Parts: sequence; C-alpha cells; structure tokens
Amino acid sequence: MTTAVYPGSFDPVTLGHLDVMQRAAGAFDRLVVAVLVNPRKSVTADAQDRAGEIRAVVAESAPDVAGRIEVMTFEGLTVDLATRLDAGFIVRGLRAVSDFESEMQMAHTNRKLRPTVDTVFFMTALEHAYLSSSLIREIASFGGDVSGMVPPAVTRRLRLPTA
Ligand code: PNS
Repeated sequence: MTTAVYPGSFDPVTLGHLDVMQRAAGAFDRLVVAVLVNPRKSVTADAQDRAGEIRAVVAESAPDVAGRIEVMTFEGLTVDLATRLDAGFIVRGLRAVSDFESEMQMAHTNRKLRPTVDTVFFMTALEHAYLSSSLIREIASFGGDVSGMVPPAVTRRLRLPTA
C-alpha cells in the first residue's frame, strides 16, 4: 500500500487544495492530509477545526475518493510525520513558476533530512491556479466575497465575524 502525506496550513482550505487532494487520492492508496499546528502564523480557525472542516468538505465534494483520505493535525517536521505514517511520499501543489523556488528548496531539504521520502508535485488545475489562502484571508477580513474560491462551508464560516 502506498501512502502519501499532503502537509500544509490549509488556512483556509481552497478549491485548489481540494483539487490536489482528489487527484493525489487517485494516485495513492492512502492520502493523509496533515494540517500544521503553527502558533506563529495567523489563523482563521485552529488546526483541529480546520482538519474537521477538510474532512467534511472531502466527504461532501469528493465521495469517490473520501475513503482513501485521512485528515489529521501535526506538529514538528513533515518528514518525521511521514515516517510515523509509513508514507514514502510528500504531496505538494504547484500553482505557478513562482511557487517552484520555495517548493524545490523544501523538497531538497526534506530529501536531505529523509532520503527515503520523495516529494511529488501536482500542477493545480488551471482554473484554481490564482488562488491563495493568504489572499482569501485578506478578502474575507474586509468582508469580500470568497465564494468560488473555497468550498461553500468555508465561505459560510469566513462570513461569520470572528470572536
Ligand atoms: O501550506 P503551507 O503553509 O505552504 O505549508 C508549509 C508546510 C506545512 C508544508 C511546511 O511549513 C512544513 O512542512 N512545515 C513543517 C516543519 C518542517 O518540516 N519544516 C521543514 C520543511 S523543509
């Protein structure tokens, strides 16, 4: 059984992330979506809540592959998580050439740390290639409309005033 881990902040999860999840789940037997617990970064919801949201979105929007997707939170190094999960692959999405430099650096660093774990990239679907969680956070913070960029449940949550 081939396991891959898809780590990220998913703050919030976008339609681009969801597209990568669906396609990666078609390529591996088991895909573990791992939401980083990162107290330093600005967050729209805590990691546990973001993980629960992703679980619900996957069950609703990708029922055909939902059985192969697990969602969890994690702290620490992605390569350590991959080893704990017996995952041979890290999945990342590439939207544009601008993502390439930092993703290449991360892939090489992870490979140096754990040569048994390889990174594979999925090109984000063209219609989602412009999406970015940080821009979505900014739009939502000013009350802008993010529907069509994130799953409907996330649109509803981002409309709610934060405490
Ligand atoms: O969605 P993001 O914020 O681009 O995801 C970045 C993430 C979570 C993949 C990266 O920050 C990460 O792997 N963090 C865990 C700590 C780690 O392993 N750092 C070394 C990466 S080379």
